Amino acid sequence: MFHVEHEKVGAMAIKTLSIYTFRNLTEVHLTLSPFFNLIAGENGAGKSSILEAVYFLSHGRSFRGHVLEPLIQINQQKTILQALITTATQNEVSLGVMKSLVEEGQIKIGGEVCRSAVELAALLPVQLLNADSFDLLNGGPAFRRQWMDWGLFHVEHSYGELWRQYNYVLKQRNAALKKEGSAAVRCWDEELAQMGEKMVLQRAYYIEQIMPLCNGIFSRFCDFSFYFQYERGWNADISLLDALQSGWSRDLHLGYTSAGPHRADLKLSIAGKAVQAILSRGQQKWLIYSLKLAQGLLLKQQAGKSCVYLLDDVPAEWDEQRQKTVIAVLRDMASQVLITGIDLSYLYELTADSPTKMFHVEQGVVREECIAVEAAEFS
Ligand SMILES: Nc1ncnc2c1ncn2[C@@H]1O[C@H](COP(=O)(O)OP(=O)(O)O)[C@@H](O)[C@H]1O
Ligand SMILES: [Mg+2]
Repeated sequence: MFHVEHEKVGAMAIKTLSIYTFRNLTEVHLTLSPFFNLIAGENGAGKSSILEAVYFLSHGRSFRGHVLEPLIQINQQKTILQALITTATQNEVSLGVMKSLVEEGQIKIGGEVCRSAVELAALLPVQLLNADSFDLLNGGPAFRRQWMDWGLFHVEHSYGELWRQYNYVLKQRNAALKKEGSAAVRCWDEELAQMGEKMVLQRAYYIEQIMPLCNGIFSRFCDFSFYFQYERGWNADISLLDALQSGWSRDLHLGYTSAGPHRADLKLSIAGKAVQAILSRGQQKWLIYSLKLAQGLLLKQQAGKSCVYLLDDVPAEWDEQRQKTVIAVLRDMASQVLITGIDLSYLYELTADSPTKMFHVEQGVVREECIAVEAAEFS
């Protein structure tokens, strides 16, 4: 297993987090452990909202829908989220997001106004594991493309810009397909094809790199090894330019571009059969954990960066051996982890040899638990 040097421990972690008028969290200030943070509380207490606030600081949006209004506390007009993070080079940087129903929102990095949420994501890579993570296996191809793109965005410097430009040109081509007819469509083909071919190569390389890491982790959960079949988004025998050109009449009829990396997918199989047909629901969960943990591991190995893991609603009935594996993998890559659940005291036993903080949430109020008392209960 991969081990980090001592001086990098705690890199890319959130040191302090402040949340104002976000869902039922009126004003919360947390000083987090760079390793494990166990956040317990009853249903509806505000646990997921804390993770949602962290996710928002990284993505500039929620994981529970794109609409702003439900996030802002009832009877309030705006929300403010702030964090002080330690970077991979051990500098401290402040991040801030303000979203309002009545004025334009603002993102600040190191006190300077910043125009795009992409910079937040680059500074604070976050991985979420919750009940919706099943979409990665059972949802549409967009979820698997997002998974690949997350990895490439953080590992490969140029990928974010390439992805942005590709999607810009794609939008132009699609608009031309709807309104302007084939002459206008043609002028986008070469540019789209050139960028699309690059994206496809980078994604293929990423898959090649991450597959052994995913299988390495999955083999610690289940006795299977699986295979990724990467479908790049068009007929395998021809170039993207040929696919675009030979698809003109079909695309004009459809009103959108039917070939390209925006149509890519990943098929996960075991012994030639789709993983969904072989694995139980429980095993599928461990496969999803493997896919997401492997991304953190690759990020650490290739870019020396850590990502923050958000594990929402970890149930008490997780089997112990697999709990230990999850904790061991997270510990080995020195990731900061925020775990929520109704009762997490049982997990403390597993995390306690790394710096661990416990918090209790009740009706939007967060209290840090005194670990000495908790530890004594186990002795
Ligand atoms: N905009 C809002 N203003 C005030 N309260 C909200 C808002 N949105 C959600 N809530 C409440 O905030 C609480 C937060 O729920 P959540 O974080 O999902 O709890 P948990 O994860 O602990 O079960 C819920 O009780 C919900 O009813
Ligand atoms: Mg919840």
